[in-house]
Amino acid sequence: MLIQRSECIEDYIEITFSDNKTAQFSLFWLRDHSTDTSSINPNTLQRDLNTFTLPSAPEINHQEITNNGEQLTINWIKDNVVSEFSADFLYTMEFNINELPTYHLWGSDMQNKIPDFDFNKIIQSEKEFIPVLDAIEKYGLVTFSNMPSDMEATKSLLEKVGYIRETVFGGLWDFSNNEAHSDSAYTSVGIGLHTDGTYTIDPPGLQLLHCLAFDGEGGFNQFADGFKIAETIKNEDPKAYKILKQIEVPAHYIEPDIQLRGKHAVIREDKNGNFEQICFNNFDRSPFKLSNAEQKVFYRAYGRFQQLINDPNFQVTFQLQPGRAVWFDNWRALHARSSFTGFRHLAGGYTNREDYISKKLTLRGQTPWQE
Ligand SMILES: [Fe+2]
Repeated sequence: MLIQRSECIEDYIEITFSDNKTAQFSLFWLRDHSTDTSSINPNTLQRDLNTFTLPSAPEINHQEITNNGEQLTINWIKDNVVSEFSADFLYTMEFNINELPTYHLWGSDMQNKIPDFDFNKIIQSEKEFIPVLDAIEKYGLVTFSNMPSDMEATKSLLEKVGYIRETVFGGLWDFSNNEAHSDSAYTSVGIGLHTDGTYTIDPPGLQLLHCLAFDGEGGFNQFADGFKIAETIKNEDPKAYKILKQIEVPAHYIEPDIQLRGKHAVIREDKNGNFEQICFNNFDRSPFKLSNAEQKVFYRAYGRFQQLINDPNFQVTFQLQPGRAVWFDNWRALHARSSFTGFRHLAGGYTNREDYISKKLTLRGQTPWQE
């Protein structure tokens, strides 16, 4: 994007961009967002300027288009401050650019097509790790091969994103069918499709499941793309979709001395209307009551969600063997496990959503105004 024209009018600067769109930026806003090193720390991009001492219309010496239209440069009277704003920055701030979703919706067509990465390759460098993050963003799950069957490998993979989240289950955890916690994960019974942590205020971002040992039958993992389910309901029943976005469903987790509670809509969109988060776990749902009219629509919508995630056309299924792991976006992919016999030992852990995003932004070199 380039700037074609800039003109100071009263207490704002009017800009015409190369696509002929026009925007007005107040002098106060421009001074508050000044890029000079006395106003903002160039390393952390933290604001050093005291916004609250600025006059309502800071005075300028002059303003001009520089760098062949790539920048607007403003010379302020007070303290001889010079601000340089890139055309891209100003354009992005003004126009609510509807970012296209970066995700690809899937159903059973993903069977045998889940991106798989060689553990030894991706663990080596940040560069090799970028395609892993890209694939998680696109599909919501990836698998790994050739992992050592020990928890050091689990830990090193989780720490590629950030620190491991501590929960009531610990940080880096391992579980077998030994019933160490009251959660059904610690048994050999089947567990239906769900997202984890509906009972927390901030459900875990990514979840890693790493198979350390398995000697038995069954224990298949199923996954469904929550965004695909949301899209399907949005198209077939807008009223049902709306109520799944509106109603916050309470949930709880209880064991001696612990009582966690959360409340989330089944479907959440971002400001651009793209899918952002799915929260669904009927096992952990707490009692709540709606008006009869709302309740009727809610149960219909909630039931349709449950029906679709259990439709084989919306699922992929595989059996984790020792040396293999699956890493999935818990804000998107629903997971399940069929019952099994014998002994099954898994390790894993959560990373927070914000740390997963942080890693993506860092590796891609994006600044705070780029999403
Ligand atoms: Fe789970």
